[in-house]
Amino acid sequence: RKKIIITIDGWSSCGKSTLAKQLAKELNYAYIDSGAMYRAITLYFLRNHVDWTDEKEVHEALAQIQLEFHYNEAHRQSEIFLNGENVEYVIRDLVVAEKVSDVAALREVREFAVRQQQEMGKKKGIVMDGRDIGTVVFPAAELKIFMTADNAIRVERRFRELYEKNPNITIDEVKANLEMRDYIDSHREVSPLRQAADAIVLDNSHIGMEQQLKMALNWVYERL
Ligand code: C5P
Repeated sequence: RKKIIITIDGWSSCGKSTLAKQLAKELNYAYIDSGAMYRAITLYFLRNHVDWTDEKEVHEALAQIQLEFHYNEAHRQSEIFLNGENVEYVIRDLVVAEKVSDVAALREVREFAVRQQQEMGKKKGIVMDGRDIGTVVFPAAELKIFMTADNAIRVERRFRELYEKNPNITIDEVKANLEMRDYIDSHREVSPLRQAADAIVLDNSHIGMEQQLKMALNWVYERL
């Protein structure tokens, strides 16, 4: 059967990864969380005190970074490894989220990540979510979805997710972080967050996860 590339872009905390994981499972495709790559790079920069305003330091740091995705059987998901260490969970920390959009705005960082993302899509049969996947990484993808959801709903969802791990977190912190990332991501010079002209818009503010999957699968089957 024909395999396609599915891209899911959109604002922070719209449920992109939830839909991407569901689709990958249903279709037996690979799922790649491109945001995890920018988060892992940011984690490396923070841990190693890399001054990312200095191009030379960024260049040298990137040469030390190896990113890999491995499927975890027990967790039934693909997880990201930074130089051999599973960082799937630590990269979700607000400390990383506070800086990731600044790091992801750097041209060399994007070139580093995009090159690897395009390599992963060579054989198709992949679902990738992010901000520039349908516009820059896979402009010829067969199915492009652009997700949105009401602001308050997005804040609430992300807050609940982070609160489970850190009960000290406040809803205002989460709201401020989402707004800041969306602003930087959509205003940066290199590959800003944009809806691709041929993307289908999916607003999931008021639809359930099952219904959302059904809709997306229909779009997939139309393209097979
Ligand atoms: O998807 P997630 O919210 O984990 O992404 C974290 C950050 O990584 C985003 O806020 C954005 O700054 C950056 N990102 C990006 N391009 C992508 C995916 C993520 O710039 N394709």
